[in-house]
Amino acid sequence: MDELLLVDLFPPPADLADDPRVTALVGDIDDAADRLGDLDAIFHLAGVVSGAAEADFDLGMRTNLDGFRAILEHARSLPTPPVLVFTSSLAVFGADPAIGPQETVDDDTLPRPQTSYGIQKFIGEQLVADYTRKGFVRGRSVRLITVAVRPGKANAAASSFMSSIIREPLAGVRAVCPVPPDTPSRSRRPPRRSTASCWPRRRRTRPGAARPPSRCPPSRRPRAR
Ligand SMILES: NC(=O)c1ccc[n+]([C@@H]2O[C@H](COP(=O)([O-])OP(=O)(O)OC[C@H]3O[C@@H](n4cnc5c(N)ncnc54)[C@H](O)[C@@H]3O)[C@@H](O)[C@H]2O)c1
Repeated sequence: MDELLLVDLFPPPADLADDPRVTALVGDIDDAADRLGDLDAIFHLAGVVSGAAEADFDLGMRTNLDGFRAILEHARSLPTPPVLVFTSSLAVFGADPAIGPQETVDDDTLPRPQTSYGIQKFIGEQLVADYTRKGFVRGRSVRLITVAVRPGKANAAASSFMSSIIREPLAGVRAVCPVPPDTPSRSRRPPRRSTASCWPRRRRTRPGAARPPSRCPPSRRPRAR
């Protein structure tokens, strides 16, 4: 990977911003979509998480649906369909009051989201499937389970406490566990570093032309595998 274009409402941490391979675009994905240029791959992580999307319906719809559609439309306008990785959520499954909880989930389990966030993620998955079927993107949707322990501050996810009850005490800070201790949960460890949304940029080289020189120092260049 030669270049990363990061898009978020907030600037990235200084060590990331200082990396010569990284360009940061600070702003709303809805507005930024037109300024992304040519891209090889899109990792779509930006979003209004579960608790916030439930508390502010308009914000959730605007970011998780309208914002994502702007990204998809930009991807569709590119000369070569980019890989697009969409971060969906286990929130596409839920306890339908008429049927009860979904105890076991496998590849054939039908989603039945019970929150605005879950609905928005499910619609996102369907859009990825359709844009892929049409050949506009090479899409993959990943249904993430709760990532714990997430670094940084607590966010507005309903499951944010799963990280807080481990992360905060380790830093000498009290944390509140809002559920009974025997509440079942599904979670996974995060990678070493996560970012909001990043788009590796395609280098503009003509077929057969020599690759442009890398702008990153030799010590930081990715190794060939
Ligand atoms: N962390 C988890 O346990 C988990 C589980 C399932 C799914 N997910 C999904 O994975 C993705 C990343 O999750 P996270 O935990 O890192 O969330 P996060 O809240 O830490 O990161 C989301 C980022 O999106 C940015 N953002 C929000 N609205 C934006 C907008 N309009 N334009 C540009 N940027 C915007 C925020 O500033 C934030 O940096 C999200 O889409 C989330 O729904 C996360």
